Amino acid sequence: MSEVKRIGVLTSGGDAPGMNACIRAVVKAAIGKGLKVFGIEDGYKGMIENRIKELSYIDVNNVIHLGGTILGTARSEAFKTREGREKAVANLKLHQIDALILIGGDGTFAGGMALTNEFDVPVIGLPGTIDNDIHGTDFTIGYDTCLNTVVEAVDKIRDTASSHHRVFFVEVMGRASGYIALNSAIASGAESVLIPETVTDIPLLAKEIKDQNKGIRSSIIIVAEGDDEGGAKEIMAKVKPYLEGYDLRYSILGHIQRGGSPSAFDRILATRMGVKAVELLVEGKKSLMIGQIGRDLVTHNILEGTTGTVPNDDSGIQLLESLLTKG
Ligand code: F6P
Repeated sequence: MSEVKRIGVLTSGGDAPGMNACIRAVVKAAIGKGLKVFGIEDGYKGMIENRIKELSYIDVNNVIHLGGTILGTARSEAFKTREGREKAVANLKLHQIDALILIGGDGTFAGGMALTNEFDVPVIGLPGTIDNDIHGTDFTIGYDTCLNTVVEAVDKIRDTASSHHRVFFVEVMGRASGYIALNSAIASGAESVLIPETVTDIPLLAKEIKDQNKGIRSSIIIVAEGDDEGGAKEIMAKVKPYLEGYDLRYSILGHIQRGGSPSAFDRILATRMGVKAVELLVEGKKSLMIGQIGRDLVTHNILEGTTGTVPNDDSGIQLLESLLTKG
């Protein structure tokens, strides 16, 4: 493989807090090693539309604390076609870009693999999504910040829930994964949690709520958006017939979960991964994703990051069950 001298970096899929810290690390580490770095706007969409420009130290000044992504992001339908990918690669050639660093989720990694398989473009994938649903890493960039945002919101909802003696169903994001729901439930002291990884039993949930309300007369039920019985609104409607006399409300937290200044954890994770990605490309490595397992950065074939749903943490589920109020 020829030496890597000019690299491209993009963010793709849903934005996640910490993406800017990662872009900053890539740019600084790469320039420090004598490489040129090109920012590709709006992910694969911008690659097809030739919205590519060289990045300097100045471009990544004062961005470590910013949420979102300074490069922009998109979910590109055109890139799913061979014609779209041909255009994208032609633009990479125009800028003589030899390799790519891709920050995003499983769809981003799958797009990268297509570039490698069809056009031999070396890629390194970094997991960036609030959902924490990527194989091969304990943590994705953005997940920790999202958890903190959810916990702050649930604390506020708890104030009004307890004042009015209400049962609140709070819906959180995560697509088919219950990581955000489970761990925000633990951290916010939610009375119950409903996640896609376990079967939701509506009559049992009603019993749990009645048991909880004997003492405290309010409860918070966190609902993962991908739960098998539906979102917070649907679940509230299904459980209502069992809960005569209870005051029920639902709240969908929505996109506030994706925004905000990244936590220290996400900034450090993003920085370590960004620097490592540059090192790997300089060493001539390709088709890898970086993960963090425990405290250590690890690498896997990037395919690993595209292999469907990630099992949730059983110990977290057991932890919550052990704290359930029993009637
Ligand atoms: O993957 C991140 C995520 O925020 C999911 O949790 C959510 O289901 C989805 O993106 C929402 O996507 P959009 O912003 O396109 O509505």
